[in-house]
Amino acid sequence: MFENEDPAKRAAGYAAVERFVRDGMCVGLGTGSTAYWAIERVGARIAAGERITAVPTSSETETLCRKLAIPLAQLLEHPMQVAIDGADEVAPDWSLIKGGGGALFREKAVALACERYIVIVTEPKLVPALGRFPLPLEVVPFAAPYVRREFAQRFGNVEVVRRGTELQPFVTDNGNWIFDAHFGRIDDPPALDAALREIHGVVASGLFYGMVDEVLVGEANGTARSLAITPRTTRSR
Ligand code: A5P
Repeated sequence: MFENEDPAKRAAGYAAVERFVRDGMCVGLGTGSTAYWAIERVGARIAAGERITAVPTSSETETLCRKLAIPLAQLLEHPMQVAIDGADEVAPDWSLIKGGGGALFREKAVALACERYIVIVTEPKLVPALGRFPLPLEVVPFAAPYVRREFAQRFGNVEVVRRGTELQPFVTDNGNWIFDAHFGRIDDPPALDAALREIHGVVASGLFYGMVDEVLVGEANGTARSLAITPRTTRSR
């Protein structure tokens, strides 16, 4: 998994663990090729004798945790002092698009439940406004035809594509489908997220806002910098 080493992703993942994870903590661990490096680092700290437990955001991360002998916990089985995850896009106000790997529902649950939410990215993920990356929506399969009809009525000709193939749709860890919606520039993430979740059958959107406490940007030279926020949205916690 992710043998293809990217020094910038590794720098971001390692820096997050070094700066925010302490012995004895329960940590939310994200999904994807950047979060991989944070997970790997947590595994190394445990191998060195620290007592860290983790809440994985996907079955993929759970498998990796088991491989690295990272003790697992259920969501809020213990207070979760920090969570570390990647993102597909980060706007100047630290709103995010997530779900490129399809783990958005559990990732959002962990982001909401933790005390500090740390996002780790590389430079290409920083965008002036969200929306170039298609917005993932987790959709209950039974309701999918209704979701399609409502989506078309509310959002006109915005293209929405079910992830996977006709015969083999991508199925999330929760047994749902992912619809990728091509909105283009998203100016008001909270309003769009609310409008999408109003459609019965949309379980979650990949829009995360008002949740992030720190964004670390990994650099190819092995360092990571904190990203300054340009405030816009009201923080929700
Ligand atoms: C997983 O569903 C996503 O939200 C990931 O966090 C996101 O796609 C970033 O992944 P990479 O670090 O692999 O780009």
